[in-house]
Amino acid sequence: MENRCHRLLLALVVIISATRATSLAAAAPAAAPAPASGTQPENFKYTQLWSDAEGETHIAECKMQGFREEAYSALLQFVRDDFGGNATKMVFTELSVNLTQPLHNTPSTQFVITLSGSWYIKTTDGSYREFLPGEVLFQDNTKDSPAAKSPQHYSGAVGDVPCQQFVIQFDRVPNVNVVCPF
Ligand SMILES: *[C@@H]1O[C@H](CO)[C@@H](O)[C@H](O)[C@H]1NC(C)=O
Ligand SMILES: *[C@@H]1O[C@H](CO)[C@@H](O)[C@H](O)[C@H]1NC(C)=O
Repeated sequence: MENRCHRLLLALVVIISATRATSLAAAAPAAAPAPASGTQPENFKYTQLWSDAEGETHIAECKMQGFREEAYSALLQFVRDDFGGNATKMVFTELSVNLTQPLHNTPSTQFVITLSGSWYIKTTDGSYREFLPGEVLFQDNTKDSPAAKSPQHYSGAVGDVPCQQFVIQFDRVPNVNVVCPF
């Protein structure tokens, strides 16, 4: 009787360890999840405020491409660091509640990354876009734009909390009629 009990227990232990071994094997990562060569992120969004040759401004919804695969650590990740210019300034800024800017140029070719709160742009074609935290705007409607007239836009804060932004300015030459450049 004691012997049968022991054998049963042993069988149970064997079954349990076999099951654990199987599930451990299933949980272990297969190969490193490296992106296939030549693939791109499917949904790397940014918004563009662009100018036409006349200097009217417009809004485009873009998906960034042109990434390469690079291993910053052990595994590959998508990287894009060439935007046709070098960073000249980094700015943290906060728009007060209800702030509304009149028509203006962007001070520099720049990316604006919304950190908190919300803000809007309104272009001269009547388009309007609000940005939420995590959303990225690219704009190059500077005073140096080659457009016939200076390309401008409206902007301002949205909602009842201030809007915090991180702005990266760079020295890429402003364009006209170039939609979704990256
Ligand atoms: C950025 O700066 C580097 C180093 O000064 C220079 O070699 C490169 O040409 C610059 N890139 C652009 C796009 O201006
Ligand atoms: C913002 O504008 C709204 C609507 O006019 C007003 O009720 C509110 O008090 C204003 N808030 C601030 C902080 O100025």
